[in-house]
Amino acid sequence: MSPAPERPTRVTVPWFRSRKGQGPPLVVLTAYDAAGTIAAEEAGVDALLVGDSLGMVVLGYDSTLRVTMEDMLHHARAVSRARRRALLIADMPWLSFHLGAGETVRNAARFVREAGADAVKIEGGEPRLEAVQALLDAGIPVMGHLGLTPQSVLHFGGYRVQAKDPAAADALVRDAEALAAAGVFSIVLEGIPSAVAARVTRAIEVPTIGIGAGPSCDGQVLVAHDLLGLLPGPVPRFVRRYADLHAAQVDAMRRFAEDVRAGRFPQDGETYD
Ligand code: KIV
Repeated sequence: MSPAPERPTRVTVPWFRSRKGQGPPLVVLTAYDAAGTIAAEEAGVDALLVGDSLGMVVLGYDSTLRVTMEDMLHHARAVSRARRRALLIADMPWLSFHLGAGETVRNAARFVREAGADAVKIEGGEPRLEAVQALLDAGIPVMGHLGLTPQSVLHFGGYRVQAKDPAAADALVRDAEALAAAGVFSIVLEGIPSAVAARVTRAIEVPTIGIGAGPSCDGQVLVAHDLLGLLPGPVPRFVRRYADLHAAQVDAMRRFAEDVRAGRFPQDGETYD
């Protein structure tokens, strides 16, 4: 195992980028509010991603396509207020970076100016190079995202593992090389075979961050609600559940309800004289 890197007091884009091939894998976690951010900071994550998974795990939508810039900004600001050390990356929601360079930069700049984001993430490969270039020209660092990109769910016809056949795998490697050459500081690889993620990781000089992409990536990201078991129901096979907070919440709320109904709450020490 490689030695742990010196921990900076504040994670910056250059520090994150420089971890490629150095030390232990990078740790990225999604965050949507102050409580989740405080916990993730205490746990020592390297980067917080205000993901548009917000739509599915917080806002109750059935896909990320419903998430707006205003939704994302509202939660990015909450994360920013609680963030101390980790890099803060904001996910650009669907249609916020598809309608021309001007609108893309204006939207991304709102994450930087109004929510204190250090960088933005955008989904897609070659068709998004113009957007990536415009953002970099404006001085906004960009993280790429390839593979099972949830904003393309209609095109994919569901949440299916991508790049399974050799032609699709080659295309994904080309997309990653093009994004890296354009200047992204890192690329998320989601829902692809581990062998393809390993190829990409070898092929590019910026860190790959995997989610359902196997162990060869330079870092790993999970949706916080998945690893915490905050929602009932099944999770994808790449999720490791470290807690069952849904059951813990139901149990605590049920005991509160029972205590209220039985007249056991509040008691003397829980009231003002
Ligand atoms: O929206 C999100 O949470 C993401 C991660 C799963 C990478 O894009």
